[in-house]
Amino acid sequence: MSIFDRISYASSDLAIDLGTANTVVYVRNRGVVIAEPSVVALQTIHGVHSVLAVGNDAKLMMGRTPENIRTVRPLRSGVISDIDVAEQMLKHFIRKAQGQRGRMRGSPEIIVCVPSGSTSVERRAIRDAASNAGARKVWLIEETMAAAIGADLPVTHPIGSMVVDIGGGTTEVGVIATGGISMSMSVRVGGDRMDDAIVSYVRRTHNLLIGEATAERVKLLLGAARLSEDGAVPAAVVKGRDLVRGVPQEITISQTEIVEALAEPVGQIVAAVRSALENTPPEIAADIIDGGIIMTGGGALLANLDRLLAAETGLPVRVADNPLDCVALGAGRVLEDPSYRGVLHAT
Ligand SMILES: Nc1ncnc2c1ncn2[C@@H]1O[C@H](COP(=O)(O)OP(=O)(O)OP(=O)(O)O)[C@@H](O)[C@H]1O
Ligand SMILES: [Mg+2]
Repeated sequence: MSIFDRISYASSDLAIDLGTANTVVYVRNRGVVIAEPSVVALQTIHGVHSVLAVGNDAKLMMGRTPENIRTVRPLRSGVISDIDVAEQMLKHFIRKAQGQRGRMRGSPEIIVCVPSGSTSVERRAIRDAASNAGARKVWLIEETMAAAIGADLPVTHPIGSMVVDIGGGTTEVGVIATGGISMSMSVRVGGDRMDDAIVSYVRRTHNLLIGEATAERVKLLLGAARLSEDGAVPAAVVKGRDLVRGVPQEITISQTEIVEALAEPVGQIVAAVRSALENTPPEIAADIIDGGIIMTGGGALLANLDRLLAAETGLPVRVADNPLDCVALGAGRVLEDPSYRGVLHAT
């Protein structure tokens, strides 16, 4: 019996990209129905812990909670770091994805995306979390494979492609051909490290302490791998706590400064891609000269990163159409299309 004979065609089946920054849920026959931050707010009342909020609502509370409430991000570097909270979060999202039809569906089969470098212990944690959250059967797929399928690359053909998925926690480079991953490489550098770099830059050069969420907002506004050629240098007001006087303070920061702040993490991402290229088998390297590099993940949206990568590698670089949903869309296509069955791993 093949894998897909066993995957039932009940419409409640799901593909989930359980990411460090965002969880994206795809439901069979419906597409992406949830894309929310991987954040849980936990409340403690008289020693009893309970979930107060998950996703968007929980992210709004980050850095702004009283003592009895804490916000948790249950994944770090693409793998589960807090199993109980990860399970609660999955349960919430699975229920939400199913509940949008007005009634609970039977326990679904679920495809979960995992980093290619994840260990068997880390994969087991994901399987257990999904099973305990209500999955009848759990399949795994490597994130770079799902990203490549989501970006419409010819993964099942004997043609090599390179995907660079830049998420919140990690950057994964995958070289894919003939239905498998022929080389993969992962560095623990992604959007979170960029946010940290902005926090330390602002502290160092402006004596201003800002929170993680503020740093991310600044990155979305001004972040760039290098300055644009049109000469425009936007700036923004940033608010935080003055480290010298200890009072709330605002400063104006320019894109030139943010480019400088991001130079280290951006350099590490470029170095990872170069090193992956050096380890790519020659026939596939020849294919990549034609097909170029495809970028996915939220980090792919960093302004001018595609241009910098193209300049540094001499290869064509393209950002996927829907970089934040690409992994979930690819896993969703595997759920819908039996011809992709070979890329799944049973658990
Ligand atoms: N326009 C943008 N410019 C720069 N960074 C962005 C942009 N939009 C989103 N991001 C960043 O992308 C990251 C989230 O990307 P994504 O959802 O792909 O990560 P993830 O899949 O949850 O993480 P991982 O794959 O590492 O587990 C966040 O750090 C976010 O700040
Ligand atoms: Mg991801």
